[in-house]
Amino acid sequence: MADGKCKAWLIVGASRGIGHEFAAQLLNRGDDVFVTVRKPGKEHNVAYWTDAKVDASHCTTLECDVLSEKSIDSCIADLAETPKLHLDYAVINAGVLKYPNVRDCDGGETDSYDDFAYHLHTNTIGPILVAQKLLKAGIPIGTIVFISSDSGSVSAFREHEDGFAAYGASKAALNVMARHMAAELKRKGSRTTILMLHPGEVSTDMAKIEGLDWEVEGQMEPPESVAACIKTIESKGLDDSGTFWTWHNQC
Ligand SMILES: NC(=O)c1ccc[n+]([C@@H]2O[C@H](COP(=O)([O-])OP(=O)(O)OC[C@H]3O[C@@H](n4cnc5c(N)ncnc54)[C@H](OP(=O)(O)O)[C@@H]3O)[C@@H](O)[C@H]2O)c1
Repeated sequence: MADGKCKAWLIVGASRGIGHEFAAQLLNRGDDVFVTVRKPGKEHNVAYWTDAKVDASHCTTLECDVLSEKSIDSCIADLAETPKLHLDYAVINAGVLKYPNVRDCDGGETDSYDDFAYHLHTNTIGPILVAQKLLKAGIPIGTIVFISSDSGSVSAFREHEDGFAAYGASKAALNVMARHMAAELKRKGSRTTILMLHPGEVSTDMAKIEGLDWEVEGQMEPPESVAACIKTIESKGLDDSGTFWTWHNQC
C-alpha cells in the first residue's frame, strides 16, 4: 500500500506476464487483489502470485475468459457477491498477439479472417464488455485501466511492423471504444476514470515472437514495467479520463 491505505484492485488476465506481475506487486505491498484466470486450479491461491507471507484473505481468484460472454457475466456475478465491494482500480490486461497476423498484402499466409477476429474478440470486444458489465453491475470503481499498446497508435505507427496489423487494429479499436466510454461516463456524471496504458516493450511470453525480421528495442522485464505502470495509474484522476499513457507517464 503506497500511501498507507489498502486499495482494492481487479486484475483481469493475471495468470502470466504483466497481469501476474501486477498481482504480485500489489499483493506484496498489502493491497486487496481480485485476480482472474481462465482456468482456475488449486495452484491459483495467493502463493501463485507471491512468495512473501501475504495473508490469503487479500487475494481472491475468479474465473474469466474474455472470449466468452457467459464467463464474463459469471465472473462479475461472483465478484459482486463480495460484501461492501469497492474497486479502486480495475486493470483489464488480458490480450493476445499471434504472429504474423493479417499482413496487408499477403493475407493468404495466415488464416486472415479468423486471425483478425481472434485479435478483435480478445483484445477489443472482451475487455470492453468486461468494463461495460462491471459498470452495469453497479460496482463502485475508481479507475478502469485498459492495457493497450502503442501498436494501436496512429501517430506512433511504425512502418516496418509487418504482421502486426490485426493486433494493432484491435488495440486502436480498444482505444476508440475506451474514449467513447470515458466521454459518455463524464457526460452522465460518473466518478469512474477511464485510462488506456501502454506498458512498454516487456519481456513476456507475448514478446517471444519467432521469425520477427526486426529487432524490438528497449525491452524491459515485467517488474520494471509494472512498477512504473502502477505509479502512472495512481497519479491520474477524473480529469484524465479518456487519455492514453505510457508506463513511464508519457502522454
Ligand atoms: N509484452 C509487451 O511487450 C506488451 C506491449 C504492449 C502491450 N502489451 C499488452 O499487455 C497485456 C499483457 O500482455 P503480456 O505481455 O503479459 O502477455 P502474456 O504473457 O502472453 O499474457 C497474456 C495474459 O492474457 C491472458 N489471456 C489471453 N487470452 C485471454 C482470454 N481469452 N481471457 C482471459 N485472459 C486471457 C493470458 O491468460 P492464459 O494464461 O490463460 O493464456 C495471460 O494471463 C496484453 O493486453 C498485451 O497486448 C504487452
